[in-house]
Amino acid sequence: MIFRQLFDQVSGTYSYLLASRRGGEALIIDPVLEKVERYLQLVQELDLKLVKAIDTHLHADHITGLGALRDKTHCITVMGEQTKADVVSMRLADGDKLTIEGLSLDVIYTPGHTDDSYSFVMPDRVFTGDTLLIRGTGRTDFQNGDPRMQFESLFGRLLKLPETTLVYPAHDYKGDTVSTIGEEKAYNPRLQVKSMEEYVELMNNLKLANPKMMDVVVPANLKVGLHQEEIARRGWTVTPAQARTLTGFSDVTLVDLREPAERVRHGSIPGALHVPYTALQENLAAGGLLHELAQSSGKRLMFYCAFGERSAMAVQAAQDAGLSKACHIEGGIDAWKKANGRLITA
Ligand SMILES: [Fe+2]
Repeated sequence: MIFRQLFDQVSGTYSYLLASRRGGEALIIDPVLEKVERYLQLVQELDLKLVKAIDTHLHADHITGLGALRDKTHCITVMGEQTKADVVSMRLADGDKLTIEGLSLDVIYTPGHTDDSYSFVMPDRVFTGDTLLIRGTGRTDFQNGDPRMQFESLFGRLLKLPETTLVYPAHDYKGDTVSTIGEEKAYNPRLQVKSMEEYVELMNNLKLANPKMMDVVVPANLKVGLHQEEIARRGWTVTPAQARTLTGFSDVTLVDLREPAERVRHGSIPGALHVPYTALQENLAAGGLLHELAQSSGKRLMFYCAFGERSAMAVQAAQDAGLSKACHIEGGIDAWKKANGRLITA
């Protein structure tokens, strides 16, 4: 496995680049905007293809690199389903798996620092965001933080992992880079409490100043979505209502870009082909399934995904591949459902 822990000195943030092999797919956890060029250089040097950028939660101390990485690499942006960030390509829930080629991380919902905090578990390590820090825990006094929920996330979930599990947090301000669950149980001062009430008392009396950049950073992190005006202006966007009409015509091929687990959980539009977004490029290239289908039959490709972000990028890619009739459903399956579009469960 390729594993890199990257540091932003200004915000004390750790970001993590993971891949199963050289030449393979990669993901990055908690990227920082100012470091995006550095990540991209490293991705190139290690011969990786960045396919997913994930934030463990909505950050208040730095601007996320999710939007910039998506714009530069067309990767999928990922956050938890509770996030208030405007558009992320994929939203995860407790029990899901975060996957790339050769790697699978278990997704656990660990609210408390914020109400959209998640941790990601591998057999030997856990990425804890700001839920569990080295010899500390994330503050719970803003962004719908809740010390009771954090107590549950810590004692009910994270501390139940094997004691040898390596702990990789989203921040450290002292220079520590990694710990273990056993070490934190024994030596983390915040975890030496006898009850939830004692923990709540401790957390409610920290009297911390707000992060310096919070008033700028939080609004910026709420607006990470892809700008889709240009795609709409070119006539490559259809509303769910238009899509319902178009699906009745035989010259339209619906293409579902989501992953199998998303299709199972949210259902699919009847008759759609399944081409996961990460396999899109090979399908659109000359000789690929979608390319041949559109070229030989003259069919119009109509892409959709979860919220319309992957499909907007797919339209652009299809147009770049010469498939000029391609379009996408604005707002994805989420908007389709709200417009009472028909669904089948896979
Ligand atoms: Fe945080």
